[in-house]
Order: sequence, then structure tokens, then C-alpha cells
Amino acid sequence: MDLSENKAEETAKTNRRIKTSGDIEVSTYLEIAKEIGGERPAAAREVVGSEERQAIVVIDFGSQYSMLITRRIRECQVYCEMVSYDAPWEKIAPLKPKGFILSGGPASVYQPGAPLAPAYIYESHLPVLGICYGMQVITKQLGGRVAPGAKQEYGHAILHLSDVNSPLFAGLEDSSPVWMSHGDRIEEMPPGFTALAYTENSPVAVMGNDQGIFGLQFHPEVAHTPQGKTILENFVYRICGCQGNWTMGNFITESLSRIKEQVGSGKVICALSGGVDSAVVATLIYRAIGDQLTCIYVNNGLLRREEVERTFKVFRENLGMKIVYVDATERFLDRLKGVVDPEVKRKVIGEEFIKVFEEEANKIGRVDFLAQGTLYPDVIESASSGSTASAKIKTHHNVGGLPAKMKLQLIEPLRYLFKDEVRQVGSELGMPEEMVWRQPFPGPGLAIRIIGEVTAEKLEILRSADFIMMNEIKKAQLYRQVWQSFAVLTDVKSVGVMGDYRTYSYLLALRAVTSEDAMTADWARLPYDFLARVSSRIVNEVPGVNRVVYDITSKPPSTIEWE
Ligand code: XMP
Repeated sequence: MDLSENKAEETAKTNRRIKTSGDIEVSTYLEIAKEIGGERPAAAREVVGSEERQAIVVIDFGSQYSMLITRRIRECQVYCEMVSYDAPWEKIAPLKPKGFILSGGPASVYQPGAPLAPAYIYESHLPVLGICYGMQVITKQLGGRVAPGAKQEYGHAILHLSDVNSPLFAGLEDSSPVWMSHGDRIEEMPPGFTALAYTENSPVAVMGNDQGIFGLQFHPEVAHTPQGKTILENFVYRICGCQGNWTMGNFITESLSRIKEQVGSGKVICALSGGVDSAVVATLIYRAIGDQLTCIYVNNGLLRREEVERTFKVFRENLGMKIVYVDATERFLDRLKGVVDPEVKRKVIGEEFIKVFEEEANKIGRVDFLAQGTLYPDVIESASSGSTASAKIKTHHNVGGLPAKMKLQLIEPLRYLFKDEVRQVGSELGMPEEMVWRQPFPGPGLAIRIIGEVTAEKLEILRSADFIMMNEIKKAQLYRQVWQSFAVLTDVKSVGVMGDYRTYSYLLALRAVTSEDAMTADWARLPYDFLARVSSRIVNEVPGVNRVVYDITSKPPSTIEWE
């Protein structure tokens, strides 16, 4: 059936009916769905031509893993977006979904007011995969029963397949480990469903019906479920009929024509930061419109050693881009005088950046567009920040937030990409490895890696130590294995002895973390010999530091940066 415009009102009505159904048995739900949706059309299973974008939509119930599910589906080369469970059909229709995944979530379906799946999920007659809470939602809405499990199940379990012929299990080995994290469990499946697999504590660890609706009690998206990727691939390819045509090559082709069309003969400015996101944005836009793009590169005096030279080499020398370079070191250091609070540092740096950028942009003359390296996680985060009560830990001033009075239209070609996809785009555009694989570096730069006031002297100490750390990390081929590695200059001084002299100098911390997305991180288990070498080089080569420590805290409870 067609759920587009003319059905929108019906859908809204159904949504209201489902929502108000509250705790009543919802076996009638299918009747409602039928009444409005009719039978599943054959077209829902039709394999579309590879030119057509195929998408899977993740319906988010607030799980910490929802974004990870989205990434995993993209890794199957199928385009995927995540939307909140209360997103209207109008938001989803343009994506032309081929299937839905209902995420996990912290709620219990039997609690009053627990979030449920919108009616269009079932009305669309597209395949659905419910994960954990998502499975319980399906169970409840389609007439089954969910109850608190006798035992909560967290951690590893062994999955035994009852129906090895299910398309969901193609290529899967029996008795493989899966990652569980749930309190509730399925007591009674909805009519028409059968149990496809079980674990010791979950008699229904996987269920499915012949309408292409499946539920998994475990999390296939996490690394602790080694065969999870196969299950997700089976769902998107075998059950939803996707073909895997989401490639970065296709993305680049699409983007180039979209940028050309959007910009026409207009002029674009882009702030280069030296980081991979702005670098890829600039390269992509330059590829599309050439000299209609001008990049502005502001040196805030808070960059790593040799950073400016490296960035120039790539952009001006190799690519031949127009770059306006401005060394605003003095201005930034002036503004940072006496500032100790990390949030004030961020604010001051953000404000000063905008001023400098605006001044330079005004010198260029007429400009119509501002290009930004916004990524999909930023989009999701800002979309959900209005609706969740998540506490603000740090304000992250990325290059952006420019004044409205500049009246520029935004171009954000990476708006729907994850970081790893951005890197692939960079590689496909022929950017040097060194730039594509650059570790993330915060906008406020070294200012938030100096505890206390930022001074030229401290910057010099930190730069020297950081340079040693980076060189050693690269030499040991660890650069790409860790997410970020750097030095932090504390404001603690301690006593040491060098030769026959007492020293009283700074304590410097080294930090290296592994992470997939910076939301969580673990401290990197760097080899002792490596740490010994870096420490010894720093205390010997960097005046002002006589003690080095290694930070062994994960995030949470710490954060990656010290400020
Ligand atoms: P935290 O320290 O919050 O950092 O664990 C997560 C990621 O964000 C980076 N970061 C920033 N990036 N402006 C930025 O552009 C900031 O103010 C900022 N603070 C932290 C950090 O390097 C890590 O990659």
C-alpha cells in the first residue's frame, strides 16, 4: 500500500489509536493494521535496481547502541538512518525504506507510557527486526506477552538454533556466543510467530513470522556477538532484499552533482581546521566547483607542532586550493590571559574564531555559501538533545556556529556520514593517508590540554612533549590503532633530581585511548617499553618537565580530554 501523503492522516489516526491503546491486549492491533493497510503487497519484497537508493530505518527507543546498529547496517553497504520512535511517517517516507529495525531501549514494555512502535511500521508490511526492547515492543503490540525474567541476563549467552533453515541464520554456526542485556523476556509470542533460537535463560531468544517480522533478544550489533554481522546482513539482503549499493564511490558521484546544482555560480567559503572532516568537505567541494571555493585557515596559536605546514602542504601545494591563511596567535593568547575554567576557554576561543573568520570572509567580497563538516552523529545528537534530559558535559565548539548576520546558506555534504565513511570518502578522493587518518583534534586545541592558564611558555612545553609522543606513536605503528594519543600539561609541579641538581618542574600526562566514536573510550594498553621510551625522551628533551604519568582511566567515568 502507499503510505505517502494521502494516507498521512489515516496514519496519524492509527498512531493515536495505538498510543491510546495503552495496556490493553493489542492482538486487535493486527486487525487495525489490516483495516488500514490491507495485505502485504508483493512489491514489498521486490528487488529494486541498483540505481535506486535502498534504506533501512532504525527506530530508536533510546538504546546506547542505536547509533551502532545504524553504523553496522552501513557497513553492509546499505544506507541506514536512525529516527526517534515518535518520528512521523512523513519524515521517513522520502527514505523509501526497505525494512525497519527497532532498537533496544531502557524502558519496560509493560510499564505505563512505555514507548511503542508507530503504526506505520506494521502497516507498511515491510520487514521488521526488533532487537531486545524492540523485540518486546513487537511482542506486546502484536498480541504476545512480555514479563520480567526470573533472572536478568547480562553478558554472554550461547545461542542454540531451533530452525536452521530460517533466512536470518544463513551461514550461521550453531551454539555461538551472543551478547545479552535484558531484564524482561518473552513469555508468550504473538500469534503466528515461532521460536527460532533459544539460550539457557531465554526460551525465545529469536522469533519470527512468515510476514518478515523478527525479534532478537540479544544484541547483534556489538562486537561481543561475533556472528551478529551475519545476522544483520541476512536481514538486509535476504529478508529486505537490499543489494548493498551504498558505496562511497556512489556517494561521491551523487555529492558532486548535488553540490554543483546547489551552488550554481555562487561562491563558497570553508574553514579549514586541519582535521579530516573539514579537509574532506573542502576537497569534495573543490572537486565539484574548483575556484568558486575559498578556504580560510585560522591559526589560533593552539595547534600542534608542524600542523600548519602539514595542512598547507596538502591543500595548497598538492591540491592547489585557494587558501586565506591568518595567523591570529596573539589575539587568541591575549583573550586567554588569566582564563582557567575550561568552559570559559572554549567560549573565548569560539568567539574569537568567529570574529577572525568573519573579518577574513568580509575581505573576500561576495560569498553565498558556508561549507561545514557536520557529521551524522552531530545531527543525531542535536536532534535528540531537545528531547532527552542528557546533561551537558562539555560544549564542543566545532568550527561552525557562525553569526546569522553573515546570512550564508549552509552546505554540509557529510551530514549523513559516519566518521569511518568520511575517511573512506577521503581515500576515494585521493587524499593522502596522513590526512585521511588524522586523529581527531579538538577545536580549542592545546588550550584544553593545558590545565590552568594558557601561556606561550606552557604551549611550547606541551608542543615539545606532544611532538615526541606523536613521533613515537607513529614510529611504533600505533597511530591508527589508537583513536587519539596526546600529552597533557598539568599545573602540578613536583620535585625531581637531574644530575646533582634538584628540579621542581611540571608533571606531564600522556593519554592514549581506543574508541569507535569518542562516546565511550578505553585507555590504550600501550607496551611498557614504549611508555618508558616516551617518558625518558620527554624528561630528557623537554625543559620544564621532570615527571611523566600515563592516564589509565576509561570514558566514562573520565572524558578523553582532561578539560
Ligand atoms: P571528551 O573529552 O568529551 O571528547 O571525551 C570527545 C571527543 O571530542 C573532542 N573534543 C572536542 N572537540 N571541541 C571539539 O571540536 C571541543 O571543545 C572538544 N572537547 C573535546 C575530543 O578530542 C574527543 O575526540
